[in-house]
Amino acid sequence: MTTPAAPKRLYIKTYGCQMNVYDSERMADVLAPLGYAMTDAPEGADLVVLNTCHIREKATEKTFSELGRLKALKQEKAERGDGVMTIAVAGCVAQAEGEEIMRRQPAVDLVVGPQSYHRLPELIARAHRQLGLRLAADFDPEEKFDALPKARGVTGLTAFLTVQEGCDKFCTFCVVPYTRGGEYSRPPEAILDEARRLVDGGVREITLLGQNVNAYAGPGGLAGLVRQLAKIEGLARIRYTTSHPRDMDDALIAAHGEVEALMPYLHLPVQSGSDTILRAMNRAHTADSYLTLVERIRAARPDMAMSGDFIVGFPGETEADFERTLDLIRATTYAAAFSFKYSRRPGTPAAALAGQVDEAVKEDRLARLQDLLNAQQAGFNAAMVGRTLPVLFERIGRREGQVVGRSPYLQPVHITGPERLIGGIWPVTIGAATRGSLTGDLAGEPASHALEPA
Ligand code: SAH
Ligand code: SF4
Ligand code: F3S
Repeated sequence: MTTPAAPKRLYIKTYGCQMNVYDSERMADVLAPLGYAMTDAPEGADLVVLNTCHIREKATEKTFSELGRLKALKQEKAERGDGVMTIAVAGCVAQAEGEEIMRRQPAVDLVVGPQSYHRLPELIARAHRQLGLRLAADFDPEEKFDALPKARGVTGLTAFLTVQEGCDKFCTFCVVPYTRGGEYSRPPEAILDEARRLVDGGVREITLLGQNVNAYAGPGGLAGLVRQLAKIEGLARIRYTTSHPRDMDDALIAAHGEVEALMPYLHLPVQSGSDTILRAMNRAHTADSYLTLVERIRAARPDMAMSGDFIVGFPGETEADFERTLDLIRATTYAAAFSFKYSRRPGTPAAALAGQVDEAVKEDRLARLQDLLNAQQAGFNAAMVGRTLPVLFERIGRREGQVVGRSPYLQPVHITGPERLIGGIWPVTIGAATRGSLTGDLAGEPASHALEPA
């Protein structure tokens, strides 16, 4: 591979879930050997990648409005005689509506789906050839993960690591099975290797990613993988997201009680508390089976903080159905949550259902749902006051002399303290809480070698 003398400027804009965040980082890794260096604004960039999300109508619309802006920047750059701005659309909109994108926005040079971004160099070269430009580098297209460079650009103390992709669940509202394809699990050796490299680069916390991460199909399932990862020296914290209730097996629940590095925070979307709606959503669990599952998880790990995803206004949802969702939230108590108005996605079974709910009703239900969830989150944080929590400090804060980290429960914690705390896990006594974060004071030195700064 050749590295051209003058770096080319690469701008990547990421929408959607953490899988896209991971993919964007890997796209930067793929493009680095071709001489592309990241820049933080699209103005003047040689290559702009929009890594898009298709999950709700609004997310998809953002792609098209952003492309309108980029088209103008591309023209300005050409008029200045500053070379070509190549525009690539990646991610889930690219997968679902690739042809439509090319038709609607001629400024787009190439479209690449989530399973093909390792082919970016080849696709860029092809687009450039069509413009009469020179081939930038050769690339041998292989299976994605094998084809990606092993070395990752490690930039922080925490990192995402994709272990599973795709979805076979076909919830009737969701586009993911169509944009990301079927469930695929990476081999454990590749994951462990990537994790060791991250830890060698200074990473102390890894979040395992997958659309259905707990459906991880390697030996021993996700629990087996977590136990392997926990043996890596220097890796202090392990998290994973997103899980489906039906794949939360006994081994994984047990691991929560036994693996110290596995953090007591679980994102376990439920979507609705009404069995009628859950059935129409094809969720394969009931409200009761979900609550029983949460009980079993909390029996294994009593301080488990739960987070969830909720949809209001699914077709056919009545006021009584919606109230079942509020009941389920009261019975579970969430530390955090994401909630959405149902968005009708073309091609999904629910889009064709009768009983689509009025926008005003959705608005009203979402507001009520969020009031309850916000109150629970505030209550969860307030309950931390007076407790001493181990905090992994990650960066300096906005205020003078402030450092910021995360509690095991993913709460941001701000304290006044020296920069040398960053990279270590330190005990902090919580003095005050808001809905979004905690503040406190250092409560002493780290307790064991595992907790010392790297
Ligand atoms: N695989 C994960 C997350 C999928 S997308 C899971 O199964 O939980 C993240 C969230 O977006 C979903 O949990 C759901 O709450 C929401 N979502 C998906 N499709 C949606 C739609 N059509 N309208 C509104 N919200 C949607
Ligand atoms: Fe979508 Fe359901 Fe699959 Fe999650 S489990 S990605 S909500 S189809
Ligand atoms: Fe969006 Fe695709 Fe993730 S649709 S939520 S970017 S899997």
